[in-house]
Amino acid sequence: MGKYNFDQIIDRRGTNALKTDVLKERYGNENLIPLWVADMDFLSPPAISEAIIERAKHGLFGYTCPSQEYYNSIISWVKKSHDWTLDQQWITFIPGIVKGIAFVIDCFSTKEDHVIIQPPVYHPFRIIPSLHQRKVVDNPLVLEAGQYIMDLSDLKKRINTSSKILILCNPHNPGGRVWTKEELADLAEICYDNGILVISDEIHSDMAFENYKHVPFASVSEKAAQNSITFMAPSKTFNIAGIVSSYSIIPNGKIRTKFNNYLKSSELEEGHIFAYLAAQAAYEKGEEWLTEAKEYIWGNIQFVDQFLKTNIPQIKAMIPEASFLVWLDCRELNLTQKDLVSLFVKDAKLALNDGVMFGKGGEGFMRLNVGSPRPVLEKALNNLKAAIK
Ligand SMILES: Cc1ncc(COP(=O)(O)O)c(C=O)c1O
Repeated sequence: MGKYNFDQIIDRRGTNALKTDVLKERYGNENLIPLWVADMDFLSPPAISEAIIERAKHGLFGYTCPSQEYYNSIISWVKKSHDWTLDQQWITFIPGIVKGIAFVIDCFSTKEDHVIIQPPVYHPFRIIPSLHQRKVVDNPLVLEAGQYIMDLSDLKKRINTSSKILILCNPHNPGGRVWTKEELADLAEICYDNGILVISDEIHSDMAFENYKHVPFASVSEKAAQNSITFMAPSKTFNIAGIVSSYSIIPNGKIRTKFNNYLKSSELEEGHIFAYLAAQAAYEKGEEWLTEAKEYIWGNIQFVDQFLKTNIPQIKAMIPEASFLVWLDCRELNLTQKDLVSLFVKDAKLALNDGVMFGKGGEGFMRLNVGSPRPVLEKALNNLKAAIK
């Protein structure tokens, strides 16, 4: 028995939680089990709430700057967790990673330039560049032995003089791959040699399971370090997405100056009191909680996998190497995407992410968020079993 109770069911309805409170609008029915948007239904580490409450008691919330302890906490965490030594000046607060991606696109490319992504992948990688009138070029991942690998020979074919940025999801969402050092180094080489800046979105980096080790892209080679912008955050790790506490890490001075000047021109690098506090508390005091949370999530993944194998063998779970998102391969059900979504939403009363939103290769898939108490997952899977029957 651990110190934290992840079985506790917390009613999030009425808190303006995206996951629960827009179901009617997004799915047409408010009475669904919400297992979609990527936050978890667990209380965050108590140390975070305590730090916020303690500061709130002060009652005066004027302009606030990041403390030395805030930077130290990031540097120590990244060193301890990922064996990557950061220089403090590489780190800059950003108001969200998706926004960070938009800033990089705006700052380092112009209209009609090509932005390369590796679908199926987190949908804002496609949506954000498109909304900025960049051409999104797909370098699709390849399914091999039930997991994704990169297709670097295909990538080489897609590169031309318009290719400016590649957005890497490291670890990968929705497939859950923890990319290896070799895969990342090969990717880094191609991008560097072709003048393609790499955005490495490492929001899921702290959630690699036992037997897997996250490798920061910029740590794999000098070419990777000198040609990348890494985004990290405690938001997924400690379930504080609503607090908004992400940051960029840029070892290359020229790239850093250009990006930071872009941020400064709109004061986008200025965080807020609770972002600094929460990040620091998480990194200084959240490790024990995270270890237990990952054990629980891993148990949930095993539970889902076993349930499907026993009861719904037509649906196969891609076992993630990191994080709490499970990519469900439903292709053997032989349904159109519309009917597949309808089976989940209308018949099983479940709100998952439609695989198609993740782009090419997402057809026939659904994304299940297992960051929920196990009894909730059990109910959801029983609903699905009954709907399929
Ligand atoms: C890969 C990835 N990047 C970024 C985000 C969102 O980050 P933020 O809330 O900081 O914009 C998510 C959330 O699901 C994600 O999965």
